[in-house]
Amino acid sequence: MRLSEYRKPEHEINNIFIERWSPRAMSGEILSEDEIMSLFEAARWAPSSYNNQPWKFVYARKNTEYWDKFFNLLIDFNKSWVKDAALLILIISKRNFEYNNKPSVSHSFDTGAAWQNLALQGSINGLVVHAMEGFDYEKAKQLFKIPDDYKIEAMIAVGKPGKKENLPKELQGRESPSSRKKIGNFVSEGNFIQQ
Ligand SMILES: Cc1cc2nc3c(=O)[nH]c(=O)nc-3n(C[C@H](O)[C@H](O)[C@H](O)COP(=O)(O)O)c2cc1C
Repeated sequence: MRLSEYRKPEHEINNIFIERWSPRAMSGEILSEDEIMSLFEAARWAPSSYNNQPWKFVYARKNTEYWDKFFNLLIDFNKSWVKDAALLILIISKRNFEYNNKPSVSHSFDTGAAWQNLALQGSINGLVVHAMEGFDYEKAKQLFKIPDDYKIEAMIAVGKPGKKENLPKELQGRESPSSRKKIGNFVSEGNFIQQ
């Protein structure tokens, strides 16, 4: 079943791509170890240049000593809904190849693939998986003592789906899957077309 008419593919694809979206409503329930590790297992199998696997994930579960360290990095907007998440994950990539310590041009690209694997697996498992850039990257770098040859990419909130009514009023109206540009806006044959 298609998620909505608004999120309608132009061509036939597997439902997982359109069924994954980024809700904000979560129930506050905690996740089991298996539920958490299934996400990282999916990330593990992402492709990367030279199979370098430059991704690093640092996580905090709700109700642990680590939670506040992650949560307090968020901007207030994100705090307003992330409070009901069960897991926060900081995604970091390593800038240099492991085999020769030379710069990799694709460390972020590869780590993006790992994040997407994680997000799709979470969606398949019935979880909310929501990426965020709304946090203090500089403070995170200091707090987690991230060396310069690593790049902080994003933070992810994960949780069990919750009721839209429990979101702050201003977010309730935004709690629906978004659409996408037409393929013709970003695909061209033979030549680059600036659009
Ligand atoms: C790298 C990245 C950063 C994002 N940052 C935020 C954020 O700080 N707060 C937020 O509410 N959503 C954030 N989002 C969610 C996007 O707005 C969302 O993925 C986009 O609108 C597409 O919607 P969909 O994921 O539901 O398909 C972020 C997504 C990505 C991939």
